[in-house]
Amino acid sequence: DDSDLSAAMALAFRAVAGQNGDRVSVPDGYSAQVLIPWGTPINASAPEFSADLAYTPEIQANTVGMNHDGMHNFALAEDTASSDFILALNNEYIDQSALWAPQGGPSGREDGEGGRPPAEVRTEINAHGVTIMRVTRDDDGQWAPADDTRYNRRITSATPCKLAGPVAGSAYAITAYSNDGTSTRGTNNNCANGYTPWGTYLTCEENWPAVFRKDAGREADDDRLGILTGGTRYGWETAAKLADDTDGEFSRFDATPRAETAAGDYRNEPRTFGYIVEIDPYTRESRPVKRTALGRFRHEGCWPGKLVAGQPVVFYTGHDSRNEYIYKFVSDTPWNPADAHMIGGSYDRLAIGDKYMNAGTLYAARFNADGSGEWLPLTPDATVADGSQTLASALNLAADDQAGVIINTCDAADWMGATPMDRPEWGTVDPDSGAVYMTLTNNSDRTEDDSQATFTEGGDAITDNGVGYATAPVNAANPRADNENGQVIRWVEPAVGATTFEWDIFVFGSIPQSGADDNLSNLGADNYFSSCDGLWYDDRGDGKGILWIETDSGSEYTNDQVLAVIPQNVSAGANDPSIINSANQTELKRFAVGPNGCEVTGIFATPDKSALFINIQHPANWPAGTDATRDTQGRIRPRASTVVIQKTDGGPVAV
Ligand code: FEO
Ligand code: CA
Ligand code: CA
Ligand code: CA
Repeated sequence: DDSDLSAAMALAFRAVAGQNGDRVSVPDGYSAQVLIPWGTPINASAPEFSADLAYTPEIQANTVGMNHDGMHNFALAEDTASSDFILALNNEYIDQSALWAPQGGPSGREDGEGGRPPAEVRTEINAHGVTIMRVTRDDDGQWAPADDTRYNRRITSATPCKLAGPVAGSAYAITAYSNDGTSTRGTNNNCANGYTPWGTYLTCEENWPAVFRKDAGREADDDRLGILTGGTRYGWETAAKLADDTDGEFSRFDATPRAETAAGDYRNEPRTFGYIVEIDPYTRESRPVKRTALGRFRHEGCWPGKLVAGQPVVFYTGHDSRNEYIYKFVSDTPWNPADAHMIGGSYDRLAIGDKYMNAGTLYAARFNADGSGEWLPLTPDATVADGSQTLASALNLAADDQAGVIINTCDAADWMGATPMDRPEWGTVDPDSGAVYMTLTNNSDRTEDDSQATFTEGGDAITDNGVGYATAPVNAANPRADNENGQVIRWVEPAVGATTFEWDIFVFGSIPQSGADDNLSNLGADNYFSSCDGLWYDDRGDGKGILWIETDSGSEYTNDQVLAVIPQNVSAGANDPSIINSANQTELKRFAVGPNGCEVTGIFATPDKSALFINIQHPANWPAGTDATRDTQGRIRPRASTVVIQKTDGGPVAV
């Protein structure tokens, strides 16, 4: 049975102590190598990084982007898959002080009054997005980027993208750039990631609403998702004042209506963001495709479910905001194993994506107090939670307007009675059992009782009817008020594509020495953690695997970290998270700790399990000592980076 198989595999490293410092700490017998930090050239046209390098749009377009987050490996050949592959890497957001260190910071912003220099804005746009880059390992175990123009490329917040699925070609997506509503420019704030069984990368648009403003003509989705008014995070729209902006290069970030119709302005530009975006990493010329069927919100990531021939293809995704929801997409088209990724093959992988990701049903999750759960369909004809009307009627949409449901995904989930969660971050799936794990990172807007609840659109009564929670009372799946430390939730479904599930809490985060009375999983020195975020089920075969947990909330008790645990009790439903450290559970142990100021995110291992890749995002000073981090005037220029952790003896990590 499962516990016997897991018992045969044990975590063979000594836990790393919780700590602070400008270093990556790994267990004895392991090494950590910095690989492709921000600014690494992806081709011969860009200069090497130096602390005094003044960035231009061209340099940034030909170098690795900023603030590495989710990533995945794509093999070039079966026999070299662990030493030579394409790395697809999200560059989530920018650190303006590091980007503009030699100039003393970004210039020209007066919150909408002045205009920012177009070259600076283009550089910042080019520092976002995705980096596609070949990397190789030499005979000494050292990794390096490869200058391979067949694959290496940057996808930025300006790269042309196709729209596909229900919103594509609808009135919701018409802009002056795309009068037929089938394309847009750029992908933004790409946080976690996913991949498909047919060999493509999924990058996920999370905190994109902050690059848009809409000062008039606002609609329900603008308010629900937090499109700004009066200014934006970086003021990109202000560059329109200093540039020839006839193509809307900069003014598209201001969605305030200014023409007679949507075809003449950018009122709908924000409706072309908030999606799961599919990229073919093997085909440099291919355009990214925004898969609108998987919902529109602040997508953290997207994870494929258990794959069974003849059954639907399933993806799980979550909305990382306080009291938002978990979702599942179930394809209409059953999985045909003939569509599985052929390593080394040259063919149209995005056409396979069209087959499985454009038509299907999007569901939101309801977690019941008895450990059962339901997937609630977000379709126009679904009956809302109180039974009073259809979802289309509740949302004031035409009876067949699936695009409208997608545009208003969060409101749709409100109406259907989904459970407001403690900020869903990463998910992962055990491919054998089909068990799904998801991190719920923390929630400062979780209260003890109903009387303290508040709502995103006003209101003063508890209701399931179409109003999102701003502050939500505790529920069974999110049981700690003012949840500082987060939890990992788990569920299993009776069949692929089922509309019911059984759930339990796998582990609760806690920092016991902080004095908080919340240590429900009996964590101790070797495994205390807070704000779980990254997550990856590392399948080791024969039903065995390691669940890797990454964190995003450094404190004086420890910098952010990576922990490992071999899950047992795969049949979820017991709901006893205290077993995490019992004899029934292989111990949860801290594997690595990152440098000051960082979060640890992004994770995969090479197929031979000899190298674990992680990302260090937003470090404060690092990698001091391994690379230049200060300019000649002493200003700090930290660089987010991938880190490769390997065992000195070359064997599989962790075991
Ligand atoms: Fe970009 Fe929810 O983390
Ligand atoms: Ca995250
Ligand atoms: Ca986070
Ligand atoms: Ca982050």
